[in-house]
Amino acid sequence: MTHALDDAQLVVPLGSGCRLGSHRVLEPKGALPQAAWKLDNTPRAYANEILCDVETLNVDSASFKQIAEACGGDALAIAAQILATVNERGKQHNAVTGSGGMFVGRVAEIGPALASRDDVAVGDRIASLVSLTLTPLRIEAVDTVDVATGQVRVCGQAILFESGIYARLPDDLPTDVALAVLDVAGAPAQVRRLAKAGQTVCVIGADGKSGVLACAQARDRVGREGCVVGIVPHAGTPAAELLLERGYVDRLVVADARNALAVLAALPEALPALADLVVNCVNVSGTELASILCCKDDGTVYFFSMATSFTAAALGAEGVGKDVTMIVGNGYAKGHAGVALQTLRDHPAIEEYFVARYGARPPRES
Ligand SMILES: NC(=O)c1ccc[n+]([C@@H]2O[C@H](COP(=O)([O-])OP(=O)(O)OC[C@H]3O[C@@H](n4cnc5c(N)ncnc54)[C@H](OP(=O)(O)O)[C@@H]3O)[C@@H](O)[C@H]2O)c1
Repeated sequence: MTHALDDAQLVVPLGSGCRLGSHRVLEPKGALPQAAWKLDNTPRAYANEILCDVETLNVDSASFKQIAEACGGDALAIAAQILATVNERGKQHNAVTGSGGMFVGRVAEIGPALASRDDVAVGDRIASLVSLTLTPLRIEAVDTVDVATGQVRVCGQAILFESGIYARLPDDLPTDVALAVLDVAGAPAQVRRLAKAGQTVCVIGADGKSGVLACAQARDRVGREGCVVGIVPHAGTPAAELLLERGYVDRLVVADARNALAVLAALPEALPALADLVVNCVNVSGTELASILCCKDDGTVYFFSMATSFTAAALGAEGVGKDVTMIVGNGYAKGHAGVALQTLRDHPAIEEYFVARYGARPPRES
């Protein structure tokens, strides 16, 4: 007598993969997922993986700006480009900028080897805190693209490896606001570590997401005896006004940070003694030298921007004879998600700004 097997019985459970995800690398063999060209994005969890249903991608700003410019700002074309990348590479890894972003989704399955984790359960809505450049991702459809914020609503699935980090979404903030803040959580957390009482801090790209959060942390750390200076490309943006009116910056300099000579010319008035700490939060390339010129000898330049070039920074500092410490903007710092979200809770005016900018805008149809 024969028994027909139903589909569920035919599915063999997957064993454990590499905790760093190397078992998902298709090309080139031997690479880790971030460095790989192509990942296996099959939406089935290995025993030590978490499978999520993805709702929204927050494409990182340098990447989104590049895609948007290449697509002439057209939401449909941006959606097609994102789909093409994910179909080709099994992940949202922009080949031009090399950067990714992160996602918000709902936990669909937790592999048995991770069942003892007490910080996540099936059904939780979480934000990934590892880059989309190493996250296996499958997209069935792009629903909407918000060209103004880089947030992309999708229907898809993603895999988090055993080593992957994530945060449960907070109850007290709109999801899109939490996503915007968590995407850049490394910046406020690092500024909190690096800035000291009485110092001068210069934030370049001060009116962007990471820039505003960095200014708030810098203000808290340096105190009123210290000084916070922002550099922005345009005057009068809502974020620039917020920074000035609420005293998060003492001065705001309007300058194109790609133009090192223009920044140099502004320094005697803007930063007479130069900065102890420079934080680069821009989303365009070619701003390394201006950042270095703003920093005093023995100071620190923290390059959070994904558009930073190691060679431009290293050779630029050497070329202008600056002995400065330059830090690569690690997206991860211990407790960074908590620090970033707390920055909003501690500063209601900043929370209000983020809610107006990222939380209340209906996304444009793609
Ligand atoms: N290190 C990491 O792990 C990590 C994680 C996430 C993101 N990032 C990167 O961090 C950077 C900032 O991200 P974000 O989300 O904060 O970006 P954002 O919100 O788009 O802010 C970027 C800011 O840079 C300003 N800017 C652009 N061109 C400029 C110029 N020529 N001179 C001076 N300022 C200029 C923009 O001004 P306008 O808006 O007026 O153009 C904007 O205020 C991006 O490069 C992003 O990819 C890094």
